[in-house]
Amino acid sequence: MIEMVEYNIEKTGKTSMGINFLVWVTLSFCIVNVNVTVVEALPFPAPNLDNCLSSEACCTPIPSTAKPTKFKFQTHLPMRIRPAAHLVDDAYIAKYQRAMELMKALPDTDGRSFTNQWKIHCLYCDNHLYFETETHPYPLEIHKSWLFYPWHRLYVYFHERILAKLIDDDTFALPFWNWDNQSPELPQGNVVPKVYAEKRSLYTDPINKTSSIYDETRTPCALSPEGFLDIQNPFSCPGANVSEEVRATNAHVTYVQAVGVGVTPLLFHGWPYRLGDEGGGGNGALEATPHGSVHAWVNAKKMLTFRDSAADPIFFGHHANMDRLWEVY
Ligand code: C2O
Repeated sequence: MIEMVEYNIEKTGKTSMGINFLVWVTLSFCIVNVNVTVVEALPFPAPNLDNCLSSEACCTPIPSTAKPTKFKFQTHLPMRIRPAAHLVDDAYIAKYQRAMELMKALPDTDGRSFTNQWKIHCLYCDNHLYFETETHPYPLEIHKSWLFYPWHRLYVYFHERILAKLIDDDTFALPFWNWDNQSPELPQGNVVPKVYAEKRSLYTDPINKTSSIYDETRTPCALSPEGFLDIQNPFSCPGANVSEEVRATNAHVTYVQAVGVGVTPLLFHGWPYRLGDEGGGGNGALEATPHGSVHAWVNAKKMLTFRDSAADPIFFGHHANMDRLWEVY
């Protein structure tokens, strides 16, 4: 229970940190354009979990005590380095499987359980959680605005920290699935990497024989070791002999979106979203393509839905990569 409270407290800190960052981004944008406008944005308060109106059963346990506190960087922790998902070895896979298995085994009264983890993604979008304001309650929406990157960054961060804590290994870092890597060298980045595709638990005495990171509901293409992501045609499935043209187009699309479409901080990050606004005003440059294409390619019925996408552990590798692309571009 204490852990859950801590988790929820920590989690709420992330929203305001993201907004502060974005205020800074916005300010820089204004200054670069020599068009100095005062941008005022109150940090988003933590949403009140009592106001959860989810019709899709996404409400999570409510901490019994405590006011949210601001996120503090955990400077006592060792530097963690996220590995590329297609390059990790079996020992790493076993460790990650074990951590995820422990997370999945937590009871649903524990805010850190995997079920509660993925529900948080559902909860923070899709009209489930409402802010009270003086005028009208309005729903929180973490997509299609500049909240997209910071919210998902901290979502992945806390997920990773909980996994690390469950295996008592402060060096643990999630893999990033760099589907933007178009190299034909084996192992390839642009297929579902072994860490997610491996069906078996690779460590001794697993609770289950099936890997806790595997998800059998992915599309046949994403389940096939040779399935290849075609970013522009996410419902197609080029096989192992994918043409050079598809690889080149994948690389081109990602690059053009990032540097050709996302030419200003606002175009890159997405539409402004301040306290009191309706959210979801407009995507940043990478959000629909390639980010949305990857969701669609893995599984349109699950990974592409707001409700269930984070219930496939590959979601966290996908978003660790979005986090990386945010840094890269
Ligand atoms: Cu909240 Cu990739 O989505």
